[in-house]
Formats: sequence, structure tokens, C-alpha cells
Amino acid sequence: MTTDTGRERQRDAAGQLRHLLTLEGLTREEIVRLLDQAQGYVRRPGELPARDASLAGRTVANLFFEPSTRTRVSFELAAGRLGADVVNLEMLSSSRIKGESVLDTIYTLQAMAVDVFVLRDAEPGLPAYIARHVAPHVSVLNAGEAHLSHPTQGLLDALTIRQRLGDTAQLTVAVVGDVRHSRVARSAWQALATLGVGEFRIVGPPELMPDDGEFRGARRCPILAQGLEGADVVMALRIQRERMAEARIPDAHTYCREFGITTESLKLARPGALVMHPGPMNRGVEISGEAADGPQSAIQQQVANGVAVRMAVLATIVRHSQAQTPPATTGRTVG
Ligand code: CP
Repeated sequence: MTTDTGRERQRDAAGQLRHLLTLEGLTREEIVRLLDQAQGYVRRPGELPARDASLAGRTVANLFFEPSTRTRVSFELAAGRLGADVVNLEMLSSSRIKGESVLDTIYTLQAMAVDVFVLRDAEPGLPAYIARHVAPHVSVLNAGEAHLSHPTQGLLDALTIRQRLGDTAQLTVAVVGDVRHSRVARSAWQALATLGVGEFRIVGPPELMPDDGEFRGARRCPILAQGLEGADVVMALRIQRERMAEARIPDAHTYCREFGITTESLKLARPGALVMHPGPMNRGVEISGEAADGPQSAIQQQVANGVAVRMAVLATIVRHSQAQTPPATTGRTVG
């Protein structure tokens, strides 16, 4: 399998988004359109959720080869609220263990008329690989690809910032912690760089910084005070021990003292700065409970926006794929 990000592959012959594999290559207009559509699906707490029939008669399959709470449940809710049938496969315990290839699993589900595959995997390249092989009317949505890409997370983070602070063009956004292993940071950077951002900072110890050449244009800050000074948005990242071949950080207490987002360290940022975290959180490591639950926190709003963004993405992708002709057979496609 290659590590094709799918930037070109995600469009059909007319240039429309048929899959969502990465935010790389999306135009500002496309991102704004998705955020506007997502905003239309947002409801106040306590109101009934938005629903429409954009996916009526369609089937969405969630295949998560890595654990997920927020992304998997929000894709399930989003598809259901648009009228789709949804199937959730227990991929952590099934097909690969029995020896079936992922592609055979995909062809099996495609034969049962699945129209959209939502994929999460620890291995780079799976979403683009599957997109190369599915039938022309079938779409693939990346729900988290190794450390590389989490496009719907990037969109929901951009939507949350826009809702709370308006236009992103003048804002300073500081992403703090394990940037090296973070698909969230990469997709947030892609979304905000395309929308326009005043300054994007990546903040963390040298061993958790991405390689030179990544995050071109972002400011690298090896000291927390430097990274938070005057920041409008502070996004804490989870330490991703599962992606580290060897321990890259000192003990949790030392890490929290040096890079933790706490009510004390937040005083370094702009007063009232927005606090974000993609979840799941390690309270007391990258963020304190007080900062996570305090008045500056937008963490629950991020979660709520996840459903709205995934509804917008599903509705957009399916609208474009309606132009494609379903095959008469199971539709095996040679990439
Ligand atoms: N933010 C995020 O991807 O969370 P989950 O791992 O719970 O889906």
C-alpha cells in the first residue's frame, strides 16, 4: 500500500468531491461551503436535532480499526439523521484477525449495497487505497488516518473557532503538545491555512515536534510561554503513546508542569482565549480538569459540531455521487 493522501483521487472527473480523504487541496470556497452547511445543522442544547432526507435509501458503514468514541458515534448519528441505514462493524476484533483482507471486507459490504465507507486506521494510506478500489458510486470518508489526517476533525475545529471568534484571518492559534503524532494538528493546520489564519503556532518539546518541512509557515515554539503569549485559541493535544516506538516524554507530572494547559498557564494567552481539545483527554497530563471544564472551554461545542460537520460532509459527498452510475454487479474496481 502506498501513502497516497488521496488529494487528487478524492475528486470525480468533474472535479467534485466524491470522497473526503484529506483537506489538502480543498479550496477556501469548498471549506466555507462545508462549514456553512454544517452551521445549518447546528441546534441549541435541548432543541431537537436537525434532520433531513439527504441520505434516504443510502447505507453507510463505519469501519474503525482504531478505537473511537466521538468520531464513530457522530458519524453514526449524522448518517441516521440524514435518513441513511448505518452499520457499525467491530473491526478491532474481526476480519483482519480471521485473515480476511480489508479489500475483501469492503467488496463484501459493497455487494450488500453499502454506499459510503467511513474508515479509521493506524496505517497511513488506507482511505486512498480503498477509494482506488470501490465502485464508481461508492464514497470513502477518512475518519482518522495514522498521524496524517483527520479531515472532519479539522473542519469541526474550524467551525468551532468561527462560531466563537468569527473570521480566523486575524487570529493566533496555538496547538500544544504531541504535534508530531497528531492527525488533528495536521488537519487543523490544513483547514486554517486555507481559510486564512493570523499565526499558527506549534508548541511542544523538541521530541514531540514534527519533522522540518511539515507545517510550512507555522511558528515553532519549544517553550510554552512563547507559544501561548497573546494566543486567541489554545488547542491541547493528547500524548499519543500508541504511536511512539519509545518513550518520548518525561513523566506525566513533569510534562504537565512544562506543557500542560491549566488555569495558570492560560494566563499567558490572551484573556478569555478559547480552550480546545479533540478528545479523548488525559486530564492532569496535557490539560487540567479546571481548564477543560472552565468558562473558556469549547470542548463540548467541538463534540456537538462533530455531528453537524459530518452531516454536511455526508450530504455533500452523496449529492456528488448521485451523478455516478451504480454497477450491475459487486463492482470490483482495479485501481
Ligand atoms: N477526536 C477524536 O477523533 O476522538 P475519537 O478518537 O473519540 O473519535
